[in-house]
Amino acid sequence: MRATATAQPNIALIKYWGKRDTALNLPAVGSISITLSDLFTSMTVDFDDALEQDVLHVNNERNDTLLPRLSHALDIAAGDARPRARIHSECNFPIAAGLASSASSFAAVVVAASAAMGIERSVGELANLAGRASGSAARSLYGGFVELENSGDAVVVSELLPADAWPLDVVVAVTATGPKPVGSTEAMEISRKTSPFYERWVSDQPDDLASARDAIASRDFSALASIAEHNCLKMHSVMWSSRPPIVYWNDATLACLQTIRQLQSDGVDVFFTIDAGPQVKAVCDKAHTDRVEAALRATDGVRNILRSGLGEGARLS
Ligand code: PMV
Repeated sequence: MRATATAQPNIALIKYWGKRDTALNLPAVGSISITLSDLFTSMTVDFDDALEQDVLHVNNERNDTLLPRLSHALDIAAGDARPRARIHSECNFPIAAGLASSASSFAAVVVAASAAMGIERSVGELANLAGRASGSAARSLYGGFVELENSGDAVVVSELLPADAWPLDVVVAVTATGPKPVGSTEAMEISRKTSPFYERWVSDQPDDLASARDAIASRDFSALASIAEHNCLKMHSVMWSSRPPIVYWNDATLACLQTIRQLQSDGVDVFFTIDAGPQVKAVCDKAHTDRVEAALRATDGVRNILRSGLGEGARLS
């Protein structure tokens, strides 16, 4: 009863922030993301009746910190009465630092657990199960440009455009490698309950989604850049205006935004987005990736650079 699956993280261009149902982990807003190709998480799930509890190894080291959420994901995928499991995770990028490691981990673990239990599920069913573990994980079941819509007590996830139809690159400027100060689940609830901007954030989201959908359909880079940056800064404004405030940025985060503004005024097709962490993700036309990478590498406080194209959804290995 063993299977291995691989998934890549996704980066939201139109963000999900806030839940409308915490028990089912349903997002308050729809979102649009791109699935990456070069950062990956591989998960092996080995159910064994002889085990008394789940055991997790991440990159060959035992990890009890991430275990409770992965055990919960196994319960979601295989039921509470499931056998306990040995889980082996391999990840080629920093975990829990705002690089969407939860999205690729939960997408991969749900696919692997279903296969290990011999349960056949559609990609839509797998996306809903992954989404119950981590809202953004639902999107990593699909490749390229992906939209997540709310529909009753489920989510509908669909591919807007395959990865090769508009092959953009993403350059990630890593500005800190430790775990984030507040996890996104807790932070979203703080925002929902306290930010004076939260309701407006939720009610304006359909307009942002429509603008992004149009920009993606017509491959209009500057229109996508404009709506993605606006939506990102709006989400962070909700975070900053929460009580207590949720500020994931550091000095280097802001320095990277200045670098990207300078590149834009030099005519480079690039835009930024930032999630629940201090890393800056620069989305760019492939013709400009080397230049974007060099400029971010030279920015004060940038510790590391990761590069990726767009890729496919989670799958069995
Ligand atoms: O899926 P979660 O609970 O890790 O939340 C993700 C939230 C953001 O990354 C900030 C935005 C998004 O849509 O991915």
